[in-house]
Amino acid sequence: MLDSTPKEVIVLLGPPGAGKGTVSVRLAGMIDAAHLSTGDLLRETAADANSESGREIAGLMAGGQLVPDGLMLRILVKTLSGLRESTVLLDGFPRTTRQAEMLERTLASSNGCVRAAVLLEVDEAVLVERLSGRLICGACGAVYHVETLKPRQAGVCDRCGGKLKRRADDAPETIRNRLEVYAEQTAPLIDWYRAKGQLVGINGMGEVDEIVSRVRDGLADWKAAGQGLREAPDP
Ligand code: AP5
Repeated sequence: MLDSTPKEVIVLLGPPGAGKGTVSVRLAGMIDAAHLSTGDLLRETAADANSESGREIAGLMAGGQLVPDGLMLRILVKTLSGLRESTVLLDGFPRTTRQAEMLERTLASSNGCVRAAVLLEVDEAVLVERLSGRLICGACGAVYHVETLKPRQAGVCDRCGGKLKRRADDAPETIRNRLEVYAEQTAPLIDWYRAKGQLVGINGMGEVDEIVSRVRDGLADWKAAGQGLREAPDP
């Protein structure tokens, strides 16, 4: 149950490395929405090695496995309740149909809803290149890439001066596991949202700015078309 104003949620769907975080951060600023990444929330919780849930989460994430639905939902609801924005870009949740059902029930309890599910479609070879070259700031979480999004000074965050590092789950073996977990447990959500008329498919390949524009325009067109089923055309 959410003890806050109604939330209108836009779900970002897509495999690891599809650009969910990169797109959400930029889009959130354009449409005055909050960006909520369950991966970031879990990394914060996992950083507390003194708590039992922190240790459990760290172990699951390191192997590329999903955190149990109930635990994930508790962490999400607490954070959602504290947001002042009424529109939320939800990056990394839901990841199972059970989580999608839980999200609907939770939002409905405060007159909120999922407005759309944006699917970023990217070829697998590109996903692996993106994840293998990703760097994140250990202090503020900003995301970079060794080739496509370099910081001004090597190893240092442009935003806060923090030290850049690889994400623990971006090791080659773990990337393979994460892609398998996505195919088995999360990809069924594509048909789930399609059947509800909420899926907006977006080509997630190309320049970041171009993709962000596609998402923004795709959502606007989809809304103008009466929020019916619509797959975005190829650019
Ligand atoms: P999470 O952090 O959500 O990871 P993920 O879904 O695997 O997604 P990523 O963050 O890896 O990729 P992204 O799509 O955001 O891509 P990004 O923008 O960073 O989850 C991590 C773990 O937490 C899970 O494995 C699980 O254990 C747990 N978890 C999370 N949510 C859960 C849930 N709901 N239930 C249970 N467990 C949960 O981009 C990647 C790289 O590509 C970056 O370097 C970026 O600079 C670069 N890039 C992006 N776009 C472009 C572009 N257009 N051109 C060139 N480079 C680009």
